[in-house]
Amino acid sequence: MRYGYFDEKAREYVITRPDTPTPWINYIGNGKYGGIVTNTGGGYSFHKDPQNRRITRYRYNNLPTDRPGRYIYVRDRLTGEYWNPGYQPVQRKLDSYRCRHGMGYTVLEGEYKGIAADVTYFVPDDRDFEIWLVQIRNLCHVERNLQVFSYAEFCFWDAIMDQQNVDWVQQINQGRYEDRLITWHPHHFKDACAFFATNAEINSFDTNLEAFIGRYRCESNPIAVETGACSNSVSYRMNGVGAFCIDVNLKPGEEREIIFILGFTENKSTIRDEIRDYLNVEYAKEALKRLKDSWEEYLDKLQIETPDRETNLFVNTWNQYQCKITFNWSRFVSMYSWGLGRGIGIRDSAQDTLGVMHSIPELAGGLIKRLIHCQYTDGRVYHLFFPLTGEGGIGDAPVVKFDWYSDDHLWLPIAANAYLKETANFDFFQSVVPYNDNKTEGTVWEHLNRAMEFTYNHRGPHALPYSRADWNDTLNLDMGNGIAETLFTSMLFSEPPLKRFRCRISDKRIATKYRYWYDEMKQAINEWCWDGEWYIRAFDDEGNVLGSGKNRYGKIFINSQSWAVLSMVAPEEYAKKCLESVYRHLNTKYGIVKVYPAYPEYNPKIGGMTTYPPGAKENGGIFAHTNPWVMIAECMMGNGRRAYQYYRQILPLTRNDDADLLEVEPYVYCQNILGKEHPQFGIGRNSWLTGTAAWNMVAVSQYILGIRPEYDGLTVDPCIPPDWKGFKVRRIFRGCVYNIEVRNPEGVRRCEKNCRRGVETDKIPVKPAGTVCECVVIMG
Ligand code: NOJ
Repeated sequence: MRYGYFDEKAREYVITRPDTPTPWINYIGNGKYGGIVTNTGGGYSFHKDPQNRRITRYRYNNLPTDRPGRYIYVRDRLTGEYWNPGYQPVQRKLDSYRCRHGMGYTVLEGEYKGIAADVTYFVPDDRDFEIWLVQIRNLCHVERNLQVFSYAEFCFWDAIMDQQNVDWVQQINQGRYEDRLITWHPHHFKDACAFFATNAEINSFDTNLEAFIGRYRCESNPIAVETGACSNSVSYRMNGVGAFCIDVNLKPGEEREIIFILGFTENKSTIRDEIRDYLNVEYAKEALKRLKDSWEEYLDKLQIETPDRETNLFVNTWNQYQCKITFNWSRFVSMYSWGLGRGIGIRDSAQDTLGVMHSIPELAGGLIKRLIHCQYTDGRVYHLFFPLTGEGGIGDAPVVKFDWYSDDHLWLPIAANAYLKETANFDFFQSVVPYNDNKTEGTVWEHLNRAMEFTYNHRGPHALPYSRADWNDTLNLDMGNGIAETLFTSMLFSEPPLKRFRCRISDKRIATKYRYWYDEMKQAINEWCWDGEWYIRAFDDEGNVLGSGKNRYGKIFINSQSWAVLSMVAPEEYAKKCLESVYRHLNTKYGIVKVYPAYPEYNPKIGGMTTYPPGAKENGGIFAHTNPWVMIAECMMGNGRRAYQYYRQILPLTRNDDADLLEVEPYVYCQNILGKEHPQFGIGRNSWLTGTAAWNMVAVSQYILGIRPEYDGLTVDPCIPPDWKGFKVRRIFRGCVYNIEVRNPEGVRRCEKNCRRGVETDKIPVKPAGTVCECVVIMG
């Protein structure tokens, strides 16, 4: 069954039925004020930090599902019937329904008995508020007397406290009304407040939720809507709502437009000035146009034209869009992480910068510095931090608790390296950033070196990094003996400054040290970790091997194979063999599973991953984030056909017609899909905020199409399926527009003289900013 389609021209995904298998969402806002909007109007809003400054509520794990949201009710005064253009919460069957998720905005369109009502949600000009633009038309031949009601359910700003200390929260909440403006704030805050406003003449209002809903009722049958008037309630305690009732009489063919604004301010007295312009419909529409233009500008940095329309659609629009959303919110706030407890992940956000580096390198550089600020003086980093308060820590990992992850700090050099390749701004190394205690500081270069040193200084009996947990949060081997070791982190350690930066290090002593460290790690990996057909995954805290053919379960893990190639520690023969083993043992039609065979039951010596049943998440699920690493490795080995096969396997839109099985949105990557050992093989979960977005962007643009930024130019090193006759890429790099056409007349899979593993690649030199560079590459 399909629930929608891609409108390529409008860059929208259009949902045509409201009963999607899970709420299919979109994000509004640019990373400051923002929110989640579902296809039936559900969702919530927040300002800078969804844990510490939540604006509206969402009921987690709730039935009925996906409540509450940003609701508009339309009521016919003659019959008393009422409905929502987005179907929820009244759930009256509409004569027609559409939800259009676009770049930074969502439109809900519902028609019922001759009344067409649309509502567009967006955040204008990166302001601290959102607009709901309602358009309501009478399609009948008779005049219609209608009413429009709004509903925004306020949340106490501390979203955890909102659930925990109900007594306190309900005693201090205050809602006030004055001239079409509702304000909402805790009693002890005098200036800061959330607010809700409209441009329309109102019939009545409510600021008190209980008054609007009525006793033993809910969002689907509020007493105010049912009776056709709010009660002008002032809220001295309890719960709050932004509710207006507006009378709308429409002659045949007539249309009316209404604006609602929901937002947050630090200074109550400035609200009216802040929103005045935006209460004007024409001004609001112009702001929507500006928003669309800004997304076009963002996407314009990279546009491709390949023989595969679906790849084009994804790279040109949806994958890039998702990369920006992950850049904004890390893994903090989605339908799976509800903006509680998680914060901005250091490892996650460092990887997220890779997906937007080509389009917004300066913002990416800024985020990298913010992540670097999370570093302890000994070189490790917080696991996550909260953007509003700056507080950081290890987070809320279930089951097993530990004080640092072996890999978090090592993603910083990788991100910094990507920034330098995009910008060549080597002064970045010299910028000074405080350590997380704010008492000491160091240059970026010093920070990155401390990250490397921390790992080098924390190694186990095989000279490999200790493991509490690594990229795989749930592989928790440390039982207190301090000898568990991780191969993944060993390989990650071998990837960045060690190889990449050394060409830029003028200090010969440091360069020699890094070369020595790299050789030492490479030797340890190949001496202790080659299992015959693939690399093992780890040593547990008793010195036993995980990820060996000799193990009964968990014989082969994906990451030690892909990263053996990415880090270039594997000799060619091993590299070929281990990738072949991935194909043979781990590949499925929906993607490559993370480990096989999965562990059948909980094993405290392995930790969190064995809390999952076989085939789920890290225990044998298709953890999509890991798949592009295999694509990249295949490209590095020259296997374009296989890299592309892996790319297509997890391309979400290929499952648009299979949505009842996939369940999650077909327009963005999800984090995980249940694997072949699970009875529900193929179901996706945890859509939107996943490293899958950034790494697929890297895999397809830099390795399959092969357009890679380097310190001194743009490499063109495609590794494509041999039946592609060529492709075009428009890439803006350091201010110059590169129009690159790659032709493949002989049907080869890569340019012969290009080879990632050692040999020189073709490079277009850096051209002056403001120029256009036309470039044709003939493969073969
Ligand atoms: C999700 C986390 O956000 C990410 O940091 C981690 O690498 C994966 N889980 C795998 O465990």
